[in-house]
Amino acid sequence: MTVVHAAVVHAAGVHAAANGPSLAGGLGGFRLILHVLAATIWVGGQFTLAGLLPTIRTLGEDAPKTVGRAFARLLWPAYAVLVVTGLWNIGALTVSQASAAWKAVLMVKIAVVAVAGVAVFLHQRSSTRRGTAVWGAIGAVASVAALCLGVFLAG
Ligand code: HEM
Repeated sequence: MTVVHAAVVHAAGVHAAANGPSLAGGLGGFRLILHVLAATIWVGGQFTLAGLLPTIRTLGEDAPKTVGRAFARLLWPAYAVLVVTGLWNIGALTVSQASAAWKAVLMVKIAVVAVAGVAVFLHQRSSTRRGTAVWGAIGAVASVAALCLGVFLAG
């Protein structure tokens, strides 16, 4: 590659960066797609099920528990994908060069994700309506918080 050609490629790179968004690279794009797809199941699924609950209750006394168990078969694999792709996200980024604020948000996010997981687990295991409602609410709020913090991390 001649010096002139290298200069042109560099200028084009600076020009593109200065002038706007660029497409996510192949593997990076795939990593984020997996992460966001799992987030749609974990976060979106909780709200969808909550919205369907009044109708599910008309199907019989055991229907909420039965549907909840079926949903759990989707929910926990999605959580596992979030944790694995989340760690992959960290591995793919040069975190050492990130700002203190970015690192702080990542730490808060990881704590919030842990709270979301524990709360949803306790929600599914609760034998009282109050426990089911309180842990369900904590799990949903923590899940949305993780999503918001993720968007901020993505920059
Ligand atoms: C409930 C669990 C989680 C949810 C709902 C969630 C959601 C998200 C969302 C929506 C994004 C933004 C994607 C984008 O705008 O392109 C994101 C990015 C990110 N998430 Fe998560 N996430 C979760 C768990 C985790 C975990 C456990 C980790 C780390 C161990 C993690 C690390 C990251 C990182 C580093 C980014 C930035 C990725 C980048 O810019 O390349 N996430 N997350």
